[in-house]
Amino acid sequence: MRLLAISGSLRRGSYNSALLNAAAAGLPSDVEFVVWRGLADIPAFNEDLDTVPPAVAALRREIARSDAVLFATPEYNASVPGALKNALDWVSRPFATNVLRNKTVAVIGASEGLFGAVWAQAELRKVLGVIGAHVDARELLVGEAREAFTADMRLRDPHAAARLRAIVSDLTHRTACRAA
Ligand code: FNR
Repeated sequence: MRLLAISGSLRRGSYNSALLNAAAAGLPSDVEFVVWRGLADIPAFNEDLDTVPPAVAALRREIARSDAVLFATPEYNASVPGALKNALDWVSRPFATNVLRNKTVAVIGASEGLFGAVWAQAELRKVLGVIGAHVDARELLVGEAREAFTADMRLRDPHAAARLRAIVSDLTHRTACRAA
């Protein structure tokens, strides 16, 4: 099984990218965990463009060849970061056959605020649902991220770490069930 991990942050020390690294730990050996790093290369969506930009085509290919996608999103002004929403707008076309349609996905998130990117996660789930993905309703809300991670960017709270493991395990389980 191939699990694609997408962080909505471009920041070098991103807590959300750290969450994805934490998610990779302890996965069964038959799960290939691939972190997508092309977000900075995705141009602004423009319906007038006649050709699909190479970075967009590459993202669509990565999603198409993955069995499931795990998103970790920061919260910017109570919503999904523009770069991530823009990438999803690209991915959502052509709408009827877009590569996220019927894909099993989950959303987690970290923020420096108290509420762990709760609004951004909710909005991202809504967008992914509209695009046609099968979206896990569960949340991982990592708030006050400056304190939530150790110096080597591991989750300090064992309950949060356990919840992350459960969400990832459920994601792979649901994906395997759909494939069977
Ligand atoms: C933020 N941040 C933020 N935090 C939050 O809890 N709610 C919010 O609405 C916002 N809004 C916001 C807007 C913008 C433009 C920035 C740059 C930041 C703070 C945010 O949680 C913090 O920068 C995180 O560290 C971002 O996630 P990464 O980059 O660490 O993954």
